[in-house]
Amino acid sequence: MLEKAEHLKQKINNFQAANKDELERYRVNFISRKSQIADLFSQLKEVPADQKKLAGKALNDLKNLAQERFQYLIEQLDEETQTHEGDHADLTLPPVPDKIGTAHPLTIIRRRIIQIFERIGFNVSEGPEIVDDWHNFTALNFPENHPAREMQDTFFIEKDPDIALRTHTSSVQIQVMENQQPPIRTLSPGRVYRNEAISARAHCIFHQVEGLYVDENVSFVDLKQTLFHFAREMFGKDIKIRFRPSYFPFTEPSAEIDISCLICHGKGCNICKYTGWVEIAGSGMVDPSVLDNCNIDSVKYTGFAFGMGIERVAMLKYQIKDLRLFTENDVRFLRQFNF
Ligand code: PHE
Repeated sequence: MLEKAEHLKQKINNFQAANKDELERYRVNFISRKSQIADLFSQLKEVPADQKKLAGKALNDLKNLAQERFQYLIEQLDEETQTHEGDHADLTLPPVPDKIGTAHPLTIIRRRIIQIFERIGFNVSEGPEIVDDWHNFTALNFPENHPAREMQDTFFIEKDPDIALRTHTSSVQIQVMENQQPPIRTLSPGRVYRNEAISARAHCIFHQVEGLYVDENVSFVDLKQTLFHFAREMFGKDIKIRFRPSYFPFTEPSAEIDISCLICHGKGCNICKYTGWVEIAGSGMVDPSVLDNCNIDSVKYTGFAFGMGIERVAMLKYQIKDLRLFTENDVRFLRQFNF
């Protein structure tokens, strides 16, 4: 027993740990409950009574030694890794660049949309997100009992007089036309709110860009050509675009604008609801009564307007299948958009 203890003592004293694995090997061999020292302790009961005291002391000493050496090895290894790193730091190397952030995909798309329209003479105007009934509904020709005014769509902040979160950027049309006479060519990007259940295709907060062009002799052809130009600039010259007759209280005639689905290329997917077409905007010729509401001469002037969903455009451009990704702020998603 004493011999064995002496043998272990030497082993412990000579042990060197150059890395974490070796340190672990030391711990298993000399410290753990299955260590060689623990083994000796369990053999203690077989030692003849007269030698027990001596053997016990030897084992206790050995155990303490093992502990002390363990501490020492840990400290040594720590020191070594630190000086190692220090030794190898090459101060002439160029610094590792800091990771810089990227613009949010919706920001990138908004900027791109503005850029395309600015080149053909549109300026940018912005309006408030909290609006009165006049700007969001009444001036835009919504009849008194129109369903869009009801609670299920609109987040009201106050009732009588009604104050609400704007449900579309068309409210900015009114704001601009009340303050400016034609020619008007303006783009109004911004956030809009609707009381809708959140899903892959819908959200209660999203973004639109409103376009408004009012001047003498503005026609539906101008609307078509302008949006066709936009689609080609944004999605490339192979893009197809179609106008579907529709209804909005503030435009007459009205049309919804679809573009060919870039996610499935017409094969059918959940984004285009298996039709091969995706709606990106509502549009139409500004209803003369809206011009009148803003004191613009509706005999002299005509205009077109459109409201485009920025999320929709971004989803098509980047092939994103779930709208919720835009608001989850997962950096693994956001980092991908740096162009
Ligand atoms: N404001 C409409 C909407 O949110 C879109 C639209 C804008 C339609 C301008 C026609 C003209 O659905």
